[in-house]
Amino acid sequence: MKIIRNLQELKSVLNDWRKEFKIGFVPTMGALHPGHISLIKESKLQCQKTVCSIFVNPTQFNDKKDLERYPRTEKEDVKLLIAADCDIVFIPEVNEMYPHKDERTFDFGHLDKVLDGAARPGHFNGVAQIVSKLFDAVKPDKAFFGIKDYQQVLIIKELVRQMKTNIEIVACPIMREKDGLAMSSRNTLLSTQERKLASVIPKVMQSIPSLKAAGYSFSEVKKQVASKFSGNGYRLDYFIISDANSLIEDEDFTDSHQQVVLIACFIGHIRLIDNMLL
Ligand code: PAF
Repeated sequence: MKIIRNLQELKSVLNDWRKEFKIGFVPTMGALHPGHISLIKESKLQCQKTVCSIFVNPTQFNDKKDLERYPRTEKEDVKLLIAADCDIVFIPEVNEMYPHKDERTFDFGHLDKVLDGAARPGHFNGVAQIVSKLFDAVKPDKAFFGIKDYQQVLIIKELVRQMKTNIEIVACPIMREKDGLAMSSRNTLLSTQERKLASVIPKVMQSIPSLKAAGYSFSEVKKQVASKFSGNGYRLDYFIISDANSLIEDEDFTDSHQQVVLIACFIGHIRLIDNMLL
């Protein structure tokens, strides 16, 4: 596996490969776990060459402390990528990606105004800044994203439409720990006690289809969830049911269109998200 740290070298290698091979791309912020590796595997199934990037993107953190404590595990990440037979890992420094302040602002309409967009102002603009730069550099045929970041996937699809590129965005399923907790680099920041509390999140999510089938309204489910996650180490940020494509909030369960339930919950200082398509 080639380890590349500058854009010029990355572009020159890929310019050659692009003539012969389909290029798959997995952008990450490192601290890789089996969820990321499943994206690499999917890319390898669908493309002949796979590029992974590791870059903790400062412009998508609206909280400095969150950026500082974000886990950085480059050595282990590289080992995992070699074992997964990735072809290139691109690990730039901040100056390489942002030689000048990026002043671009993106407009994703409703999509980035709600949920994590409302809770983390500027977050999706920062994601769009870095992903557009990475897409320009890698020019992949396909890019692979985990559906755990449900809102991010919708925004990246819209970004690609606005960039007028042909990159296909492949949304891959959530990978879960044995107890159901959605895999996330942030899980490593949880204490043993917090990790136990976190395992309640997927249990609550898994109970939703049967509560729906039993005739509970979403507001009744929401009340139960709010009481479960109030205090005792939890702080519920949002628990919402929306149209799965527009993220326009629904008041109740319906079978008239595809819905998604999304949750964000703080366990101590760590904010975890999860979602379920109904
Ligand atoms: O999902 C992530 O890890 C990041 O938001 C991404 C897409 C790599 C951009 O920094």
